[in-house]
Amino acid sequence: MTKLMNKIAVVTGAAQGIGAKIVERLLEDGAKVVALDINFEKLEETISNLDKSGEKVFFMKCNVIDQAEVNDVFETVYDRLGRVDILINNAGITRDAFFHKMTHEQWSTVLDVNLNSIFFTCQAVIPAMRAQEYGKIVNISSTSSWGNMGQANYSASKAGVIGLTRTLAKENGIKNITVNAIAPGQIDTEMTKDLPENIKMMAQLLTPAGRMGKPSEVASVVSFLSSDDSSYVNGECICVSGGYLMP
Ligand SMILES: NC(=O)c1ccc[n+]([C@@H]2O[C@H](COP(=O)([O-])OP(=O)(O)OC[C@H]3O[C@@H](n4cnc5c(N)ncnc54)[C@H](O)[C@@H]3O)[C@@H](O)[C@H]2O)c1
Repeated sequence: MTKLMNKIAVVTGAAQGIGAKIVERLLEDGAKVVALDINFEKLEETISNLDKSGEKVFFMKCNVIDQAEVNDVFETVYDRLGRVDILINNAGITRDAFFHKMTHEQWSTVLDVNLNSIFFTCQAVIPAMRAQEYGKIVNISSTSSWGNMGQANYSASKAGVIGLTRTLAKENGIKNITVNAIAPGQIDTEMTKDLPENIKMMAQLLTPAGRMGKPSEVASVVSFLSSDDSSYVNGECICVSGGYLMP
C-alpha cells in the first residue's frame, strides 16, 4: 500500500504491543517511521525485525516524560528527515490501585507518561505542522477514560488525552492539521497479560465481540486517522473495543 508514501511519522512507545504494530502498519502504508521508546534494547530488537534494510525506519531512545530529551529527539528528526507529518502518541503505563490506597507517586507517574508527555511531543511538532499546513496527530486514549475501578490515575490521564485532543483539533484544524484519539478496549499486550483471569473474563463477557482485541486492530484505525482518508475527521475519539463501549 502507498497511501502514506513520502510521509514521515513518529511513534512513541514503539518497542512492543500496540506501538510496535502501529510502526509495522505505517511502514506497510509507505511511510518512513521514527520509532521511540524508553526501552532501547527492546526497541532495537523489535525494529530490526521490522525493517531489515534499515532505510524505512529509524529508532531512538526517548523517555517521553523528559521534555529536554523529547526536544533533542525531535530536533534530530527535523535535522535528518526535514519534517514530521504524522505523530502517534502511544506510550502509556498503568499503576493500578484503588483510589483510597493510591500513592501520589502512582498518580503522578501515570499522569506524566500518559498525558503530560503529549504536551511535550505536541509542542515539539505543532509549530512546524502549522507552518507546513499539514499534520496528523493520533493520541491513544482508552475506554477507561469513562471510568474504571482501580484506575483513577489511568482514567484521569486518558480522559485528559481526549480533552487535549479536542482542543488541539479546534485550534489547528484551520491549518490542515487533524488531531484524533483512539480509545482501545482490552487489547492483548504485555499491559494486560498479568491482569487477573476474572477481570479478563468479565471484560470479555461485556464485549460483544467476546474476545480481546489485537494490536493490529488498533493499528488499522491509526492508519486511517494518519491518512488523507480521514481528512474531514477531526477531534474524534474512536473506540476500538469490539463493542464494549458505544458512547
Ligand atoms: N493493552 C490495552 O488493553 C490497552 C487498552 C487501552 C489503551 N491502551 C493504551 O495503548 C498504548 C499502548 O499500550 P500497550 O498495551 O501496547 O502497552 P505496552 O506496555 O505493551 O507498551 C507500552 C510501551 O510504552 C513504552 N513506554 C512506557 N513508558 C515510556 C516512557 N516514559 N517513554 C517512552 N516510552 C515509554 C514501553 O516501554 C512500551 O514499549 C498505551 O497508551 C496504553 O495506555 C492499551
